[in-house]
Amino acid sequence: MLKTRSFSPETLFSWHKPFGNDTTPVSVTPKPVFHRKKNNFRVRRNARNIKAISPILTPTPTTTPVETRTPQKVTAVVTVQKPGFLTNIRWSKVQDDLTEVFGRTLLLEFFSAELDPETGSEKETIKGYARRAGQDEDDNVKYEFAFVLPSEFGDIGAVRVVNEIHIEMYFKNIKVLDSSNGDVCLNMSCNSWVQSKFVSPEKRTFFTNKSYLPFETPSGLNKLRQDDLKAVRGNGEGERKSSERIYDYDVYNDIGDPDSPDTVRPVLGGNEHPYPRRCRTGRPKSTNDLSSETRSSSNYVPRDEAFSAVKQRTFYRKTAYSVLQVLLPILLREIRNGDVGFPNFTAIDTLYEQEDTEFTVQSNGIIGYLLIQLAKIILRFDIPEVVKRDYFSWFTDEEFSRETLAGLNPCSLQLVTDWPLRSKLDPEIYGSPESLITKKLVEQEIGGFMTLEEVMQNPSCIRSSQQGGGAEEEVTAGIRGGVGAATMMWQRRLGGGGRGGLDQGCDGGKREATVVVEGRVGEIRGLVVSGEADGLYMDGGGGGLQKAEGCDDEGVRQLGRNCRVEFYNQSLPRNMPQDLIRYFHHGHRLKRSNILNMQALEKKKLFMLDYNDLLLPYVNEIRELEGTTLYGSRTLFFLTEKGTLRPLAIELTRPPGNGKPQWKHVYRPCTDATGSWLWKLAKAQVLAQESGYHQLVSHWLRTHCAMEPYIIATNRQLSTMHPIYRLLHPHCRFTMEINALARQSLINAGGIIESSFSPGKYSMQLSSAVYELQWRFDQQALPADLIARGMAQEDPTSPHNLKLTIEDYPFANDGLILWDAINEWVTDYVKHYYPNESLVKSDQELHAWWKEIRTVGHEDKKEGWPTLKTPEDLIGILTTIIWVASGHHSAVNFGQYAYAGYFPNRPTIARNKMPNEDPSDEEWTSFLENPDGELLKCYPSQIQATQVMAVLDILSNHSPDEEYIGANISPSWEENLYIKSAFEVFKAKIELLGNTIDERNEDNSLKNRFGAGVVPYELLKPMSEKGVTGMGVPNSISI
Ligand SMILES: [Fe+2]
Repeated sequence: MLKTRSFSPETLFSWHKPFGNDTTPVSVTPKPVFHRKKNNFRVRRNARNIKAISPILTPTPTTTPVETRTPQKVTAVVTVQKPGFLTNIRWSKVQDDLTEVFGRTLLLEFFSAELDPETGSEKETIKGYARRAGQDEDDNVKYEFAFVLPSEFGDIGAVRVVNEIHIEMYFKNIKVLDSSNGDVCLNMSCNSWVQSKFVSPEKRTFFTNKSYLPFETPSGLNKLRQDDLKAVRGNGEGERKSSERIYDYDVYNDIGDPDSPDTVRPVLGGNEHPYPRRCRTGRPKSTNDLSSETRSSSNYVPRDEAFSAVKQRTFYRKTAYSVLQVLLPILLREIRNGDVGFPNFTAIDTLYEQEDTEFTVQSNGIIGYLLIQLAKIILRFDIPEVVKRDYFSWFTDEEFSRETLAGLNPCSLQLVTDWPLRSKLDPEIYGSPESLITKKLVEQEIGGFMTLEEVMQNPSCIRSSQQGGGAEEEVTAGIRGGVGAATMMWQRRLGGGGRGGLDQGCDGGKREATVVVEGRVGEIRGLVVSGEADGLYMDGGGGGLQKAEGCDDEGVRQLGRNCRVEFYNQSLPRNMPQDLIRYFHHGHRLKRSNILNMQALEKKKLFMLDYNDLLLPYVNEIRELEGTTLYGSRTLFFLTEKGTLRPLAIELTRPPGNGKPQWKHVYRPCTDATGSWLWKLAKAQVLAQESGYHQLVSHWLRTHCAMEPYIIATNRQLSTMHPIYRLLHPHCRFTMEINALARQSLINAGGIIESSFSPGKYSMQLSSAVYELQWRFDQQALPADLIARGMAQEDPTSPHNLKLTIEDYPFANDGLILWDAINEWVTDYVKHYYPNESLVKSDQELHAWWKEIRTVGHEDKKEGWPTLKTPEDLIGILTTIIWVASGHHSAVNFGQYAYAGYFPNRPTIARNKMPNEDPSDEEWTSFLENPDGELLKCYPSQIQATQVMAVLDILSNHSPDEEYIGANISPSWEENLYIKSAFEVFKAKIELLGNTIDERNEDNSLKNRFGAGVVPYELLKPMSEKGVTGMGVPNSISI
């Protein structure tokens, strides 16, 4: 027999440890509900009266037998949000007024928590109309229903309501008061819309604030629990109406419009274009493609997911809705050609702070004049923080690098772990996979930071590579014109087995490049040869010959002109004299740069933004679009002694296509004028790619889009009385609505993303490709994300159990504090409700929820899902979801205007190719004569820039009713002393994080967040004022 769960002070105040223990039995007996009075005394419903009890924890009282109770006079008070002004302008108002006069606005029906113990059936319910009883200080309308609670009724478990008037009503809460003294006996938080019975005849059920796992559900509520879940799942048929609360799934089949030739887009979701699911709307299919839905001016979301009135007002005012929906399309047509760039940087500056713009319109006379004046009035932007603090920062390499760690997209940078850099794409299609960023180039760039002497002090890894195409001059000479064979000889001074082996492998008399390392070099762990490897073998150090990696037939054919030899040695002695290492080629000594000391790799000092393999497959298609261009790109950074990054090189690659061969070029920071301008232009190309990746992946895909299936599953599979539903609910607020708005005007065909970002109409396909190639649930956790990118490694001795590769990495440093705080709060919460593993295993709703997320909401992703068997599994899953909704989203969202509002700092599109890519004489001359003009031509057009600026301003904005993480306790948490206390600890940690961030931003040693003109890193500072503040971590993705 199950016993009542008991608690002790030890378990109550044992934070970070499970509440209870694995052997703690769990009660199936309903316990008295604790409530909170305004005077901080709680009251509890018992048999004979309402008693005030101390707020200090007392042992859980046993339930008083129902039969000993006496009838009790109580009053139910329903608090409803005051209807908006517009809802009063309607023909049915007179009818509703009459209904109210007769006191029949709301019909309430109370359910006992328990079944009749004798008959096993539901006890008789208590029904009655609630009369209007006035308004409170916040203008909420109160309705009251007084009744007698019979002694045999027991505890109230739920209430069902019928809205008898013609307009929907927003229920805030329902309280049951003791009529004799006004004490609160029962509290039901509703925060939900109840539709008119004339619109939705189904009755609506609200449960008490006490949370129950499925098997704990009081007997009288089981059916109501199931019925309510069925109601929100719907039947998957028909078109959804805005008044409904049905949560269901569909693919992204409404971002294009197959009925219009220019806006045909593939359906996202399914084998061809894997993607998360979105909310099903059930709109009619399009005429030309039955797999797509017709588009609509408004997308359905369940009623409770829609913006609040305050949020809606703020959103549309802030968005300058008219700008997006009315003015800009007009301007788009009127502005000359629609694709005019900015004539000079002064013209860009005039966009800000009420200065005159340089817009020119086609229309003459009064219309043209009015359009210009309108544009001047509306198109005024605040000066973004990044240029407010330092007008020239956008131009500098320092800021370019710093923003990879502390800017708008701090989650793309990765540690370089493999060398040489090499594409994994098919060379037959994309050309040579070898990067032109060679060891020689890197060593030239890091000269002065790393020397060969340093190398030899701790040469735990030495590699040598030789490559065709001029990258390694000496070695290349050996293979040019020949058959391309390259061999590396390794010889021990006191042993010769290696040489013999290699000689044997080089059978065929091909040209040789020879490296002789004299001395006790220890064991060679591996020799990797790729290239014309027909006869190449390696000596793995043990004397036996192995065919070298990459030496299959395919390799022989493909790599004849591009040979590579890599030589790993894991155990060279630290004090080996340099002169014992000699490098020979055909008997001639080689420059030492041909042996790339990858100390920089070993010391974890090389980092990269790698958009090469991701973007190359799209380059040719995107280049066929008008007004945009694209390259595959690699941007290499070096971590300096100051802990800041310095860019070393940018490689841009165009794959073969349209009759042209592969083209690639490496740009470097330069001291000559031409090289310097090319470097700036290359940075603009990379920044445009960064902007696209940020918006389509780091922001949209990883937060907004990935989150929607979690929200749908949470509503469909977890009852509103389930503790995990109540934990997650604050983190779901408004996400579906903002996503629906995004499908309308941001990510749709011809929307702002397509029209203003480099990938154009392929934008969402690119997002789908990343979902397929990169996205995994188990790497959305911040620690896992950092480890996967090589930005951290596990270390039990470090804070957060992670050693950061770059110590001053503001996103990671602040994010990990937030991550840990969330994790500890979730741990306390989960372990309270699931003190042992068996409770997780037996929770059917929980398993249905997790299964639906994996197999329906994210059905295209088969890997990367943790199992859900233990409380620890659940804690990991929930912490990840909450982190994504709060910390991750805030880090990539609320800095959008601060960093990208001045578009030269983060252009969203590169409209022109590099001037040195197959230039005509005229193009090259134009570049030489007017290089800044080339940059302006590459930047977004006027209309693109202003559209994006307006959108970023909107997306960076906090609504006045924003709910920040750790700020407000939910009513159901507040009524549980354990949860309440755990939340207070969480709240304290969150407040402390704000202080810590302030301190860090004043720390002179943290160069990536402090310095002259540097924007302090505040994106993970939890609280914020309303507006565009560049800080604040809301609970949910609400913008
Ligand atoms: Fe967002």
